[in-house]
Amino acid sequence: MERPLRTAVLGCGARGRAYAEYSLAHPDAFELAAVADPALRGDAFPCGVKASWEEALSLPDPLDAVIIALPDRLHRDACMAALDRGCHVLLEKPVGRTWSECVEIRDAQKKSGRLVLAGYVLRYSPYYRKLRALTASGAIGDLTSIHHLVAISYDKAAHAFCRGSWGREADGTGTLVQKCSHDFDLIDWWTGSRKCLKVSSFGSLVHWRPENRPAGAAAMCADCPPAVRKACPFDAQALYVGSERLRYHFADGSDEAMRAVASSAPYGRCVYACGNDNVDHQVAVMEYEGGLTATLEMESFSKRRARKTVFYGTKGEIEADGETIVLKPFLGPDETFRPGVCGKHGGGDDRMMESFLRFARKATPARAARIFEGMLESLRMAFLAEESRKTGKTVRCGGGGAA
Ligand SMILES: NC(=O)c1ccc[n+]([C@@H]2O[C@H](COP(=O)([O-])OP(=O)(O)OC[C@H]3O[C@@H](n4cnc5c(N)ncnc54)[C@H](O)[C@@H]3O)[C@@H](O)[C@H]2O)c1
Repeated sequence: MERPLRTAVLGCGARGRAYAEYSLAHPDAFELAAVADPALRGDAFPCGVKASWEEALSLPDPLDAVIIALPDRLHRDACMAALDRGCHVLLEKPVGRTWSECVEIRDAQKKSGRLVLAGYVLRYSPYYRKLRALTASGAIGDLTSIHHLVAISYDKAAHAFCRGSWGREADGTGTLVQKCSHDFDLIDWWTGSRKCLKVSSFGSLVHWRPENRPAGAAAMCADCPPAVRKACPFDAQALYVGSERLRYHFADGSDEAMRAVASSAPYGRCVYACGNDNVDHQVAVMEYEGGLTATLEMESFSKRRARKTVFYGTKGEIEADGETIVLKPFLGPDETFRPGVCGKHGGGDDRMMESFLRFARKATPARAARIFEGMLESLRMAFLAEESRKTGKTVRCGGGGAA
């Protein structure tokens, strides 16, 4: 039997915690050799906790793999350092904040011959695998168009893209690349990696702006008059204490801890006074080789958190609402599928870790380079969509560059 991969988890917030816990639960596959996070106590994990990713990577002990779940701004430096140490890397999305950061990582990956797997968990879940199998099977003939909606939900969007880490465009990649790099990856997969020829995109911040702040609203929800709070769907007390839906973001999801979250910055702030400027909705329209078109819509103001997809083909259509898939051939009866959903990201997290282990053990440098190139190509479309939104022009996708 092969020995487990000696692994460091860098950044142990919501995502890093899931990876560290997976490693501890699968000691035959992963040995949790180091954890780095300044927000954790030194004894939070059996291997101890280092205060920074640099400290964890400078330990003299051998390391096989590094999982990077740091804030986006640290992805590039941490990934370059991990490759420099000769480690395989599981790198959370987005790979880099700009296309040029992605290219730097690609060059370092090629030089090292090591694996860099982007954290596109969704393509590992049974639900998305079923969609891929159905579209690839020819069950609806030749695909003519794909319509994919990412409904972030009003509470999650307020948490992450208004009050939280991804509110300001200058601090990251913009919401589309941050939230939807998964979806560009899925669309690329569903199209059978056909070349995308052109992309156009439109989007704006319509709602969480100072001019929409209700009369009398305070800068912090805790100080807001009760009548104003009651009428506001984004009241922090209601979202963090009165609901379970955002607690998974926090290591301590107790009522007491959530009351503290709701009454302090950043999450207790009025959504109309956060200094945020990222879009709250955006659409990207793409044309592929062979005339296939795809639309990707990202929307903050939905009640349900879901991804919904409709595929049209020359012999039928497929409707998928995030849980149920209905295959509707023009000839013959409809068929319904409900692929089992278990674990985080619809079961995608565990399968991604299994794939990471398998690839890290088996992938040759040439295969590792192909895997990463494939993942970057879909991300390039996301950056090109941003270029289109900002310039107001349709962008031609040839040439290997991006904004
Ligand atoms: N694949 C997915 O579906 C998915 C979902 C959510 C987030 N993400 C990505 O995962 C990454 C982390 O997101 P998150 O939601 O866990 O954020 P988070 O804020 O919960 O976690 C980030 C952690 O990094 C720690 N950190 C900051 N500076 C550090 C340093 N110098 N050294 C070590 N640790 C440091 C912070 O203390 C924090 O605990 C982001 O890049 C995000 O885009 C991916």
